[in-house]
Amino acid sequence: MKNQSFLCIANWKMKYAHNQALSFARDNKAGFEQLAAAHSNKKIILCPSHDVLAQVADLFKGSAVVMGGQNCSAHALGNYTGEVAAESLEQMGCRFCIVGHSERRMFCAETNEDIARKIEHLIRLNITPIVCVGETKEEYDRHETLSAITVQLKAASKGIKKMSGHMYIGIAYEPVWAIGTGLVASNAHIEGVFKHIAELMCTEQSHCKFALLYGGSVDENTASQLAQIHGLHGFLIGGASLDFKKFEKIVTLRA
Ligand code: PGA
Repeated sequence: MKNQSFLCIANWKMKYAHNQALSFARDNKAGFEQLAAAHSNKKIILCPSHDVLAQVADLFKGSAVVMGGQNCSAHALGNYTGEVAAESLEQMGCRFCIVGHSERRMFCAETNEDIARKIEHLIRLNITPIVCVGETKEEYDRHETLSAITVQLKAASKGIKKMSGHMYIGIAYEPVWAIGTGLVASNAHIEGVFKHIAELMCTEQSHCKFALLYGGSVDENTASQLAQIHGLHGFLIGGASLDFKKFEKIVTLRA
């Protein structure tokens, strides 16, 4: 993935309600725009919650700041109360969308099959899926990281397989035990996982280019160490992305 921009994805989760999210975006509009303009080798991707996405997208229209969704429906348009279609994300200007985040797997019972269908919708609409994979603490302790990731990735791959032509996806390795905990995986552990993902992708999906990302307690303190990871093409940033100074430091740390 040489010559691809380094992806700095801000996952705002549901940390703010509508008004606070909008105020945060407005207060830091100039900062985000300058950051994106000053780092043309990086993509600043903001993923607000769906209720505020259109307004935040409007705010950053015409700038180098890129919009992303936190999720999309596994279904095509139809009778799905409360769902947000991938088409809506496209119409709101999203170029990326997170799928299969462990919080959705855990709290919304999202399955690998759902994730494969979401990937399919996104690819069809030319939105780059950022597919999250990662092991739980129990799996990590039992040394089952690679087998857990194999299951998740093989299932997600079904969504990619159905599509023809060249495509580009992001795969974010996010150990569940590292999300929001202040704990980070060691660089050696992450590099081992990256190698495994790359091998899987090469055998399963030779027509698909992929960027490898890391997420889980990436902040202004952990980022400098994590930035040394061999093969890293981006960060998925939760908590620290809602503090502009911290986010700026993470983005600027990596040359
Ligand atoms: P965190 O979240 O940076 O707060 O650990 C990352 C994520 O869940 O994507």
